[in-house]
Amino acid sequence: MQRYSRIAIFLHWAIAALLAFQISVGWALEDLGARGFALFQLHKSIGMTILALTLARIAIRYWKPRPAPVEGGWQGALAKAVHGGLYLFMIGAPLTGWALVSTAKVKVPTLIFGVVPLPHLPLPMGAHALAEGGHSLLAWIGIALFALHVAGALRHHFLMGDGLLWRMMPVRSPLLLIALPALILVALGLGRMILPAPAPKAAAAPAALAPVEEAEIPANVAVAAENAASAASPAEADNAAAVEEPAPPPSWAVQPGGTIGFAVGNGGETISGSFAKWTAKIVMDPDHPESATIRVEIDLASASVGDSYKDGMLAGDEFFGVAAHPRAVFTAKGAERTGANSYRAAGTLSLKGATKAQSIRFTLSGSGKTRKVTGSASIARASFGVGNGESSTAIDPKVAVNFTFDAKAE
Ligand code: HEM
Ligand code: HEM
Repeated sequence: MQRYSRIAIFLHWAIAALLAFQISVGWALEDLGARGFALFQLHKSIGMTILALTLARIAIRYWKPRPAPVEGGWQGALAKAVHGGLYLFMIGAPLTGWALVSTAKVKVPTLIFGVVPLPHLPLPMGAHALAEGGHSLLAWIGIALFALHVAGALRHHFLMGDGLLWRMMPVRSPLLLIALPALILVALGLGRMILPAPAPKAAAAPAALAPVEEAEIPANVAVAAENAASAASPAEADNAAAVEEPAPPPSWAVQPGGTIGFAVGNGGETISGSFAKWTAKIVMDPDHPESATIRVEIDLASASVGDSYKDGMLAGDEFFGVAAHPRAVFTAKGAERTGANSYRAAGTLSLKGATKAQSIRFTLSGSGKTRKVTGSASIARASFGVGNGESSTAIDPKVAVNFTFDAKAE
């Protein structure tokens, strides 16, 4: 039995599974709204990968000999036409996707796998509806061709008994005969599984009910829509983003003058101090806190309680052990709303060589591009080995951390 080259077989099954994943994710995109930002990026990245793999596959078709067709006549012609149609689908789906994002009212930048920027195609905005309609229609055409293709392959393999499927298997293994086509089902399921959880009711309600909150949304959208070609009104831009692709959540630059302080009881009195050096990277749309990513790095050597002797002890091994672990890092992906302007972010804290779950609470005040952030966390110091010696016995187990700073949307 002649078979396709290994590389052609690999590409056949890889592309088939990726396409199934794309369709599964694609159908969910529209309902996700702003929560779908990362998923849109993934859909676009995998879509462009499929385009590249398909072009490689077509090139390989001319480079590696293919086995001769098993059938002539009209059935042979049909098989050939379906293969041709599948190639058109594999190229057309990514191209229409690329065209639709290039002609959208709010032009959201694409970074393929977060690394390679994808330029927008120089197409007229008027082509948007066509590209979008074509993108959605092509998925259905692809599914129809896929059904014909599989029916044809099964007819040969099982009804005619010519073992056609072995031509698309790297070795004659019954396991692969099941596993490779099953990849398509796995990819379909995976596409469903990675969808973000539905937005909690509390998050949607304030925006829908309170006009004040709604007025804030365009400011966030405007950040990413700077390069929107048309001078669409903010409300229009927001609409477009809701129907199509959500704008990326804005990044917030921490303004000078903020503080991170700490306080802990020590045998009836309170020791309090602060960190002079720290940085924070915050990406968050206050109306969609689930899209947040937060990373705070604190230079532990900058801790001070206003007494140089005690500061020296703080830096020592009994407390922070800054020589071995100079920084504490808090990271969180996603936050949840706990009130109109208050949030909780569950993340992890790395401190003195230990990494543990840690949550923080904060409130945002202000609107538009500037917010005041105020928050707190309660840290169980023992789980990080902070205060593990003689002089720490009277120190309370929980340390209260509080922070306040201004942030500007970039
Ligand atoms: C369970 C799913 C699938 C099975 C069992 C299957 C099976 C096969 C087999 C046996 C061949 C070789 C035909 C021959 O030797 O003449 C083939 C070729 C081909 N398949 Fe599939 N396939 C599947 C899914 C897909 C999907 C999802 C696509 C793309 C969307 C696809 C695109 C193609 C193309 C374009 C060829 C022709 C290759 C060439 O000669 O250039 N297949 N497939
Ligand atoms: C490679 C194959 C691709 C497949 C099979 C595919 C499939 C799909 C499907 C089935 C949908 C849902 C359409 C609907 O609402 O009915 C969708 C939506 C979408 N796709 Fe793709 N896609 C692919 C590649 C791409 C690429 C490369 C991009 C952009 C660079 C892209 C951008 C989008 C966008 C922005 C949407 C959602 C919004 C809309 O319909 O306006 N897709 N895709």
